[in-house]
Amino acid sequence: MIDKYIEASKKMDALGGGSNKKCYVFDDAVLLKGSFVNKGEEYQIRKERLNFLKQNGVNVCTVLENATINGERYELQEKAKGKELFHQEYSPTLEEQQNFLETLDSLSSKDLSFYEKFLNDWDKILQMGFDVDPSKSSNFFYDGESISFIDLNITNNYDVRRPWMLREAAVVLRGGGLLWQCKDVFEEAKEKVKIIYQKIGKVGLSLGEDIEEFILYADPYGRFDLQECFKSYKK
Ligand SMILES: Nc1ncnc2c1ncn2[C@@H]1O[C@H](COP(=O)(O)OP(=O)(O)O)[C@@H](O)[C@H]1O
Ligand SMILES: [Mg+2]
Repeated sequence: MIDKYIEASKKMDALGGGSNKKCYVFDDAVLLKGSFVNKGEEYQIRKERLNFLKQNGVNVCTVLENATINGERYELQEKAKGKELFHQEYSPTLEEQQNFLETLDSLSSKDLSFYEKFLNDWDKILQMGFDVDPSKSSNFFYDGESISFIDLNITNNYDVRRPWMLREAAVVLRGGGLLWQCKDVFEEAKEKVKIIYQKIGKVGLSLGEDIEEFILYADPYGRFDLQECFKSYKK
């Protein structure tokens, strides 16, 4: 099956955007290409673990098939629903800033169960030995209903990664440094981010997280007072 996608990809443009892997997007799947695509021996383990997660309702994309042709590695994956959570740009245009605000608006209107699902999925993914890379919003897809995780590699590093989960989730849900790039919508965006942080904080509390630590690290730029967000329920 993968052969037909590889053949078709030769007449297609890969997604741009400074990532490691080339990605060819089809209606029903994506084809990834490049040296960062997992080696054959890791492929079966990833496939089994991703299937297990999927069967347990976690929002991941399963891998369908892989191939190495003339030294090029390919992997066919189920296509994630929606689009990149945020499109990170160094100097976003006004339109891009408004898109950012719209996504924040959508996220901030979600109820706590949305955040519980996001964090529980993240935890289960880590438990299966995968690493979640929070450094790029492009590793998270959002369709207005739920967030899916892509770009998952096995590191078997649960004990190291898990304590960072809440802080990393906070950074992901504000688009990393994008908040400070979106100068024209900054004040409005900041208010949305505060609502999002209140919600992650509430879910975090019920997960037994150390909220003081979260507050300390969630805002590395220190430009707005996270303490404010938590006052409402810390008392
Ligand atoms: N399963 C998928 N569904 C939809 N798009 C994907 C999928 N996998 C990858 N992509 C697209 O290709 C890009 C690069 O893939 P990714 O696995 O994140 O590789 P890397 O970040 O290492 O280059 C992603 O940011 C995304 O836009
Ligand atoms: Mg990626």
